[in-house]
Amino acid sequence: MKQDRILVIGAGGQIGSVLVEALRSNYGNDNVIATDLRPLENQSGPSEILDALNAEAMATVVKKHGINQIYHLAAILSANGEKNPLWAWDINMRSLFNVLEISRSEGIDKVYCPSSIAVFGQEAAARDTPQYEVLIPETVYGISKVAGENWCNYYFKRYGLDVRSMRYPGIIGYQSMPGGGTTDYAVDIYHYAVRGEAFECFLKEDTMLPMLYMTDAIRATLELMEAPADKLTVRTSYNLAGMSFTPAEITESIRREAPDFKVTYKPDFRQAIAESWPGSIDDSAARRDWNWKPEFDLDKMTRDMLFHLGNGLK
Ligand code: NAD
Ligand code: SER
Repeated sequence: MKQDRILVIGAGGQIGSVLVEALRSNYGNDNVIATDLRPLENQSGPSEILDALNAEAMATVVKKHGINQIYHLAAILSANGEKNPLWAWDINMRSLFNVLEISRSEGIDKVYCPSSIAVFGQEAAARDTPQYEVLIPETVYGISKVAGENWCNYYFKRYGLDVRSMRYPGIIGYQSMPGGGTTDYAVDIYHYAVRGEAFECFLKEDTMLPMLYMTDAIRATLELMEAPADKLTVRTSYNLAGMSFTPAEITESIRREAPDFKVTYKPDFRQAIAESWPGSIDDSAARRDWNWKPEFDLDKMTRDMLFHLGNGLK
């Protein structure tokens, strides 16, 4: 059997830094090439500096390492994107086109390009949002993800490129910090709790959003990428769900472990972004096609986060 050689682009980010380690355990340290704009530290395998906007450099890395799978994780997320919309659009779209074109021309076997719950807007159902729903996002990030999903589908249909994608909810993990999204509060809050500091939340206490624990997110990614191609009926991007909660509910969950933890609320521009997204997601297509099932609910995640960040609290 051919040995898979995997390129991860944007490997230094919140998800990439954890996914690279998981891929290395599955495929071997030397077979996973981690790349990012900035130098990557503490690597257990090969790494390179790679700007995903530089198509020539990307093609060189692909050829040099004999790559046959690409995981494209470089992106500007929702909150950072709103600070400079044209810059975010340029990075998100140009990097995707480079990945798709190089994958097509170099005969890459499988490509992973995640999307987001940010594809949904106010017109979408606010609860149990279906797989095939009206997509009118209100952030440049969401617009780039809708366009990106459709381009992935186009490359699959037109060129037969095996591109796979899922719409991650907000990802929460102890291993890495988030990179400028609207769901970042749900990671930050645990860091404040273990330091014994009060937390000021940038969303209102009753703002419900779909979230997923990192352990589940990494497993979902690997499971989707390992699923037989003929089982996949969605080539835009799969809805994916783990849990849904509000800032008040995550606070209560943390207080069950750290009763003195204090949270105040001071909503900023991210409140409007959060209000444009659904509170929960219907992921039945992912469950049906590749047997997706989350393992972590809110309290199980809280115990695991506090254990890893603070060695438990009680
Ligand atoms: P992140 O912001 O933490 O990491 C992105 C990485 O991409 C960073 O290390 C950054 O240096 C790198 N990068 C940026 N521009 C680059 C360029 N031009 N060339 C090379 N690298 C570049 O993001 P993340 O949270 O790890 O997200 C990974 C993917 O998952 C993105 O597509 C994101 O939209 C998607 N996603 C993430 C979440 C989440 O909650 N983290 C939710 C939904 C979707
Ligand atoms: N966590 C991401 C964000 O908030 C969702 O894609 O931008």
